Order: sequence, then structure tokens, then C-alpha cells
Amino acid sequence: MFDKQVYISRRKRLLEQVREGVILLLGNSEASCNYPDNQYQFRQDSSFLYFFGLDKPDLAAVIDAESGEEWIFGDDVDIDDIIWMGPQPLIADQAATVGVSKTAPLARLADCLKAAQTKGRTIHFLPPYRNHNKILLNRLLGLPLDGLRAAASVDLIKAVVALRLIKEPCEIEEIDKACNLGYAMHLTAMKMMRLGMVEQELVGVMEGVCKSGGVMTSFPTILSQRGETLHNHMHDAVLTEGNLCVIDAGVEIASHYCSDNTRTLPTGGKFTPKQKDVYEIVLTANDYAREAARPGVTYREVHLGASKIIVQGLKNLGLLHGDVDEMVAAGVQGLFMPHGLGHNMGIDVHDMEDLGENYVGYDPGQERSKQLGLGSLRMARKLVPGHVITDEPGIYFIPALIEKWKTEGHNAQYIDFAKLEGYYGFGGIRLEDDLLITPGGSRLLGAKRLPITVEEIENTMYKD
Ligand code: GLY
Ligand code: MN
Repeated sequence: MFDKQVYISRRKRLLEQVREGVILLLGNSEASCNYPDNQYQFRQDSSFLYFFGLDKPDLAAVIDAESGEEWIFGDDVDIDDIIWMGPQPLIADQAATVGVSKTAPLARLADCLKAAQTKGRTIHFLPPYRNHNKILLNRLLGLPLDGLRAAASVDLIKAVVALRLIKEPCEIEEIDKACNLGYAMHLTAMKMMRLGMVEQELVGVMEGVCKSGGVMTSFPTILSQRGETLHNHMHDAVLTEGNLCVIDAGVEIASHYCSDNTRTLPTGGKFTPKQKDVYEIVLTANDYAREAARPGVTYREVHLGASKIIVQGLKNLGLLHGDVDEMVAAGVQGLFMPHGLGHNMGIDVHDMEDLGENYVGYDPGQERSKQLGLGSLRMARKLVPGHVITDEPGIYFIPALIEKWKTEGHNAQYIDFAKLEGYYGFGGIRLEDDLLITPGGSRLLGAKRLPITVEEIENTMYKD
């Protein structure tokens, strides 16, 4: 948790943008796994954490945007709770640590909101993503469950996005720490990988490193030799010579700031010439994006620049024919990289996606493409200092997608489908770093960059 002035200042800046009505921010509750008392690890709502810092279940906050009055609603523990959980600080004491002086039991939240509704005041709330909070909002505000996202306050969403998008120095410090732990987690896997291991063995060790210094992974770990499946969560295969293994994993540290890195490793420790050819294209695209990402440039432009490198590289390999700019405009790169170059990262690994991807990643007036790949770009905005983004180009050979384009004749004039058949079974390559946009350009987050060149990877694997 940061100093209370951090939270006070954030709330003050929020009220500079939302000037009327009442702001309701709901924390999260425990979520049961298979029976009520067996719960998933508790994860606080990120916007609640951002403005109120308190990392406990069943809290809600209300800010009167006109008077500036702030309340935290929550229940003090009773003796039954203390028996199981131990003593807990009073809600009033917790609230004081983040500069809030007014507290009340959770049951009083309904009266507070009812009073505002009776006066015809707007109640601003964020789009709920957990069923518990959907039901709560339905009961508190009398809104239909299936209309809650649409009824969420666009003014509040935009204000929260504007604040959270630009990371403060104290946040960058936390993200640097998360990236340092992410580094240790990835490096462990890189050193430990051996032929004959089951993928899950590496996942277990990586997640152990993550847990030993943090609280959880920032998303379910992707570690697979079938890396052409973008989010492959199967880890049951034996590591076999000649394969590439995509490892896309991040950590969430105690402050809940995240890291997200991807490396693609040759299972036997040495790339084949064919793998190296494709790997170098992805690496060039990754390096280009880091260099090109700077204030004033849109990340959409950087995505398209990286796409150009990928198309040029695949053309050099004889898999594509034609004018590179024309192919990029036609979206040929989507066959090989059907995802965007990157996303915002912060307290969420895909920061604020609960608020709506377009609000987070697109400037007003910026249209989202419908093209495969570019349409999945989650961060397209003009870059400004303080943005934290991922740089994660990739090349994948997805037989089902290639066959589909072939059957449909989609962009067929540019693509050598016969030659591409030689890449069925190749898998995929993704290389992901985390970047902070600085006044002069960008910098990698974390103290050290994970090994990434062919030489660095080969010199790290199978060494001890
Ligand atoms: N690294 C996982 C993702 O960005 O979706
Ligand atoms: Mn990512």
C-alpha cells in the first residue's frame, strides 16, 4: 500500500473530472471454488485498490462528487471471524490509513444510495465483471442484471482510465519490482528446461518462484510446444527435441502490480536454422517496436510498423510475394500474427479491460479495425510519458487458419500456400517485453532484459 497522500490525491483528481452525483466503487468479495468455505485466492478490484488501497473483501466506497464527502462501508469482524481469521483492524482504522474518516456498516450502503436516488442524483458506477457485484448492484440500484454494463457511468469510466493510464512514479517502482520477479521466474525456466520433462514441471517451478516473491501469477501461465495456439493452457506434453516452447507468464506482486513476458525457447537448447530464420524476424519486430514507441506516435502505427517487418521477413523466406505496404494494408500479417502488438499493463496485466477495451486503448475518434490481428490491438492510443505497455509481436503457423484462408482465397495473390505447408507443426514464436513510455522514448521495465537474442538464449539454456 502507498502512503495515504497517494490515495487522497488520486481521489481529488477524480473529482476534478466527475463533478456531479455520487460515485460508488465496489470492492470484491471472496469467490468460492467448490464449496462455500473453499475460496479462490482473494483478489481486490483494481479500481478500488487504486483509489482506496484496502485489500480486504466486502468493502464499498462512496464519494459525493459535489460535497467531496467520502465513505467506506464495511463490517468489523466479530468473535466468530476472529476465531478463524485472527484479530483484524477496525474498518475505521483501515479507512484512516487511506485518508477516509467516515465509515459505516455495509448494510448502510443501501440507505446512502437510496437517499441519493430519491434526490434524483446520478449514481456513477463502473461496469461490474463479477456476479456477486452484479447482484449487489441489481439490489442496491434496482437495475436489471443484464443492463448493468450499459448503465455504467461513461463519465466515471473515462475519468478512471485517464488517471490509471498514466503511471505515477510510485507505480512504476512497483512495476519494476514485478518485472524483476518476472525475470527470475522466466530465467529459472530457461535454465531448467530439459528434454524429457513434462511442460507442467516447468510451470510448477515458475509459479513457485512467482509465489515466493509475489502473490499470484498475473494470468494463467502459457507454456506450450503448441505455441501456435495463442493462449495454450495445456501443459501435459513431454518436451521433445526440435520443438519451440512458448512461455508467456507474468507475476503479480503484493501491491498487485504485474509483469508480462514471453520468450520462445528451443526445447533442446539450440535453434534449428529454420527456427532461427523466423525467430530473427520476430526479434527485429520486437526491437523495432521498443525503438519506435515514443511520445507522439500512436501504438497503432507501431503495430503496423512491426507488421511491415513481419511481412518483409516472411517475404524474404519466400512465403509471401508482393509489395510489402500493399500486403500490410490488405492485412496479410493477420494470418501470422492474429493478435495486437500489445496492451496496457498496471494493476491488471491487461490494465482496465473490465472498463471496456476501447475506452482504455483507443483515443476519442480512433476507429478500431475489423481486420484480423489489427482488430485485436488493445492499445492503439497516441503514446504519452507514463504509459506502460507490452511489446509482444509474434509469428504463428496455425494450420486451421491457413487452410481457411486458402479455401476462401483470402489474400491468395500474396501467399504461397504450398510452401506454408512446410511450416505446419512449426508452432509459434512470441517475444514480449514490458515498456514504459518516457519523455524521450521508452525504456524496458525491470532491471534487466531477459535473454532474447539467439546467442543469449543458447548461452543461457542447458548451462547449469
Ligand atoms: N501475455 C498474455 C496476454 O497478453 O494476453
Ligand atoms: Mn501480454
